[in-house]
Amino acid sequence: MAKVYDHILESVRAIRDRIAAAQPGFAPEIGVVLGSGLGPIANRIENPVVIPYTDIPNFHGTSVEGHAGKMILGKFHGVPSVFLQGRFHVYEGYDMSDVVFPTRTICAMGIKTLLLTNASGGINTRYRPGDIMIIEDHINLMGDNPLKGPNLTQLGPRFPDMTEAYSAECVRILESTADELGIAVQKGVYAGVLGPTYETPAEVRMLRTLGGDAVGMSTVPEAIAANHLGVRVAGLACITNLAAGLSPRKLTHAEVVENVKLSVESLDQILEKAVPKLKYGKK
Ligand code: HPA
Repeated sequence: MAKVYDHILESVRAIRDRIAAAQPGFAPEIGVVLGSGLGPIANRIENPVVIPYTDIPNFHGTSVEGHAGKMILGKFHGVPSVFLQGRFHVYEGYDMSDVVFPTRTICAMGIKTLLLTNASGGINTRYRPGDIMIIEDHINLMGDNPLKGPNLTQLGPRFPDMTEAYSAECVRILESTADELGIAVQKGVYAGVLGPTYETPAEVRMLRTLGGDAVGMSTVPEAIAANHLGVRVAGLACITNLAAGLSPRKLTHAEVVENVKLSVESLDQILEKAVPKLKYGKK
């Protein structure tokens, strides 16, 4: 397991070497993980340094449609940032520790805040495709945890506190930013499931009973890994569909990828104003 720590350091070194030539001394303050179909948000990065995951030691490729698998570094609305375009999922067969490896790597680069974005199904009956939900908390229903196994003491404690898994300060910043922009946003609990099947209607009713507002197959591992490392987390879920059983139609991945586009413009506007505020602060 100590190997994981060495691998993180090796990856950070390779990324720093790569960016040193273009932008000496570049140090990202915020990390952003872009979910399915949200890749275009990274087009806002000035003079981007793009590194395919395949060029970074210890990173895997990505296989899912809509997931490009690139790290992009540069200034995002004036803030030195590192973006992960494309993530690994547990349903692809990766171990949780592999799923969170890119997250751990960007945290080890010194970011203060990690912003996780995703595409989700709306469990809350008030939610509509195109809505953005500020993630206030999550429920881990993946049946696994990226911190399973011997604790990596170099990264964090054996039993990390998760009282504020999603920083309340970040929730306030995101909410007030959306308010100022006149963008109506939702706030709620993300239920993280393993997938890759979408839920049955009975499972969606169960998730609602448990307190979930949106459901998806990502985000939870990364939020756990970042909390372990003491990096504060913010989360935005793009509601792409009504969860199973809430609409007469069947769910398809194509619909999810298509409907993410409904949120991109609002997300873009929120991030422009919120990221310069999110870079500060403690957990
Ligand atoms: N369920 C699980 N994951 C998802 C969904 C959904 O309805 N929509 C987008 N990702």
